[in-house]
Amino acid sequence: MTGSPGTVLLTGAAGRIGRLLRTGLPAAGWSLRSTDIADLAPAGPQEEIAYADLADLDAVVDATRGVAAVVHLGGLSGEAAYEDIRRANIDGTYHVLEAARRCGVRRVVIASSNHAVGFTPRADPVPVDTRPRPDTFYGVSKVAKEALGSLYVDRYGLDVVCLRIGTQAPRPTRHRHLASWLSDGDAIRLVLAALDATAPGFAVVYGISANSRAWWDLGPGRALGYHPQDDAEAYADAVDPPEPTDDLVGGDFTGPEHDL
Ligand SMILES: NC(=O)c1ccc[n+]([C@@H]2O[C@H](COP(=O)([O-])OP(=O)(O)OC[C@H]3O[C@@H](n4cnc5c(N)ncnc54)[C@H](O)[C@@H]3O)[C@@H](O)[C@H]2O)c1
Repeated sequence: MTGSPGTVLLTGAAGRIGRLLRTGLPAAGWSLRSTDIADLAPAGPQEEIAYADLADLDAVVDATRGVAAVVHLGGLSGEAAYEDIRRANIDGTYHVLEAARRCGVRRVVIASSNHAVGFTPRADPVPVDTRPRPDTFYGVSKVAKEALGSLYVDRYGLDVVCLRIGTQAPRPTRHRHLASWLSDGDAIRLVLAALDATAPGFAVVYGISANSRAWWDLGPGRALGYHPQDDAEAYADAVDPPEPTDDLVGGDFTGPEHDL
């Protein structure tokens, strides 16, 4: 447990999920130090802004001083050239964890992705300890993030919770989303649970809503205190038809359009 809410360093705060948390975390009593390379103005209540490139270790250490926990969302959120992925996502996550260690921050919540296991065939349910099967360089970076988190737990005693997020969007639009959707409200609930869980050590949880058609195991998330309230089923009549790549966890990320 990180104790009573203090200040969270929020990386990727200008992004889609970051913007949600800039409302949701203060509403739960947390103060924010929001960071990104993109524009973050204006600061909200209970928020300070600290721009930093995740590829710059010294800048990340400066941004981390004095916070109680880190929520690490920043980086490239889709497929890109290997060097770009390595710099923003793999080096960036090393910098976040190393900064936490140097600054005495015990809790780091990391945005991983279903694409860490994207080439896994659908099963009911896919467990969190299925072997890494990344579907892209982006997915490789998520495997690396989880591995770095595990190292910093075992070697330095941090608590690191990795969130294998499915599809975070206001509503499901594709058939696959009936399984993979993570609603806005559940995204906030998920991060709050990861911040508040008592001594999780190293944990990997799937970040989806309570979808009736889910094929990812929500058990580890529930054990951590994540209790999703939304279900993509409410949108089942309004989504696109199934696609051939829906048989794999990573969906269209496993298809040829992601060949580089
Ligand atoms: N949205 C989803 O459905 C989804 C699904 C699975 C995983 N995730 C993961 O969740 C996290 C947040 O997702 P999102 O949808 O909000 O992504 P996003 O692309 O909207 O936001 C990412 C933010 O990171 C910032 N960033 C990029 N490179 C940076 C760098 N070098 N230094 C500092 N900041 C940098 C960007 O400016 C951006 O604001 C990402 O790690 C993403 O991979 C998201």
